Amino acid sequence: MTGYKKHWTLDDIPWDNFDPLKVDPEMLRIVKGAALVEHNGSIYAEYLSNVFYDDPEFQSAAIRWGAEEVQHGEALVKWVKLADPSFDFESRFKNFSSKITLPTATNKSVRGSRCGELVARCMVEVGTSSYYTALREATAEPVLREICRNIARDEIRHYKLFYSHMARYRTIERLGIIRRILVGVSRISESEDDELAYAYYAANNLGEKYDRKQCVRAYMSRAYGFYRPHHVERGIMLIFKAVGIKPHSKLAAITAKIACYFLNAKANQQTSTAQ
Ligand SMILES: [Fe+2]
Ligand SMILES: [Fe+2]
Repeated sequence: MTGYKKHWTLDDIPWDNFDPLKVDPEMLRIVKGAALVEHNGSIYAEYLSNVFYDDPEFQSAAIRWGAEEVQHGEALVKWVKLADPSFDFESRFKNFSSKITLPTATNKSVRGSRCGELVARCMVEVGTSSYYTALREATAEPVLREICRNIARDEIRHYKLFYSHMARYRTIERLGIIRRILVGVSRISESEDDELAYAYYAANNLGEKYDRKQCVRAYMSRAYGFYRPHHVERGIMLIFKAVGIKPHSKLAAITAKIACYFLNAKANQQTSTAQ
């Protein structure tokens, strides 16, 4: 996409300002998981290139997007290693990427259409942008704040990138609002899927047996605790815009309130083990 470029590099991060006393150990655990998921960006870019095999404009945008996601992972890994020098990224990522795979050898979106794929991508970018904004506002550690600030800005640019292509394919494929909403709902429900929970498990080297339910709960009780109502309201507004519902409406306000209630409930769940 024209005018789309990498907006920062690891050299822009003030690594010397790292303050180990300000690292929240609970946040460190979820940042380790996020680092693994971000590193999978290049695989997802490959999948997108195949799904959009005859759209070179989107393909090159997807490759640049994937490189930015991988850079998010690199920045987070570098920070994690400052906070926990024993973190063995290579073996943790090997474990994660062997379990979480994508159907890259396909030319059909798992969402049923290209427009649906792009709606799902918008959802993910809304989620990550809110997530890193919430982490930035919650942490007192100056280097992590700066990393999250840069990443959150990238994620919102990614949302705009996918949204612009989605709007194009909405016209080409004539994907109606109901089907767009269904894709959105299914993607949101997948936030409880294996990817985040397994990343949390693999990144924290939690032992021999993976208990999905327990890892989902352990991950969510930590991650959702950092969200504040303004993060949720903004996220719902962007999700509504992506699926084609009025973003500034009473329905959006009510949905944000329900989402806040849901996130609070998940954040307050107790985990039965040290996970
Ligand atoms: Fe990212
Ligand atoms: Fe992103």
